[in-house]
Amino acid sequence: MAFLDKHKAIETHATLLMVLSLLVVTIGGLVQIVPLFYLENVIEEVEGVRPYSPLELAGREIYIREGCYVCHSQMIRPMRDEVERYGHYSLAAESMYDHPFQWGSKRTGPDIARVGGRYSDEWHVQHLISPQSVVPESVMPKYEYLMGNVITADHIADSMAANRLVGVPYSDEAMENAQADFVAQADPNADTEGLLARYPKAQVRNFDGQPALTEMDALIAYLQVLGTMVDFSTFQPDPDR
Ligand code: HEC
Repeated sequence: MAFLDKHKAIETHATLLMVLSLLVVTIGGLVQIVPLFYLENVIEEVEGVRPYSPLELAGREIYIREGCYVCHSQMIRPMRDEVERYGHYSLAAESMYDHPFQWGSKRTGPDIARVGGRYSDEWHVQHLISPQSVVPESVMPKYEYLMGNVITADHIADSMAANRLVGVPYSDEAMENAQADFVAQADPNADTEGLLARYPKAQVRNFDGQPALTEMDALIAYLQVLGTMVDFSTFQPDPDR
């Protein structure tokens, strides 16, 4: 065929083939990239998503320090088996204040994007002290030392400032109250009006059940908020996206 004969000329001429390939790849690339320049924001804002409270943020840092992400992902994909097992698929907005994000690429353990509220605090304490006492075949390491690691609010404002620098909207008021909010969230007797105004629906209680404020409190406060900020009984995806 005449058409194929012409193509033969391209295939037998290395320079011509390279130049034309480059042209095709360039056009394809532009078609994909250019529309993104005209989008103001690729993350749809969703009601309920708020920055982490100081205690939750500290818990998140412990989660990262301990390498929990090595075995746990935090992103439920929109596939039936995942949605049936873990709940509503993850929305981009749900990790918009995560720096760095914790989507993960490996699941030695289950996805924990929606673990908040699934278990009691007591369950988490017991499971983190000794996973095998709850799930005998578990390969998860023991984190009992978190119970003894007393935690203070000394550096939390710095940590929030770093998050603010990369775009997390902590207000000046939130910054001023960082230390007080940190302590109040784990104290059932504290005045939490300000805390709850700044971090709606923040859960306030003694998470690890001991008198001292420990890393265990912070980590459980973080685990218990995961996936709970958006109310999926009323959530409607934006049809234009
Ligand atoms: C070596 C891999 C590994 C590491 C590291 C690890 N886990 Fe796990 N995790 C697992 C496995 C496997 C399971 C499932 C069995 C079980 O419940 O223990 C699990 C279960 C869990 C569950 C229960 C999830 C559910 O929906 O049932 C939570 C919560 C959890 N891990 C939190 C953590 C936290 C927090 C850390 C870090 C302090 C951590 N894990 C570190 C492997 C790991």
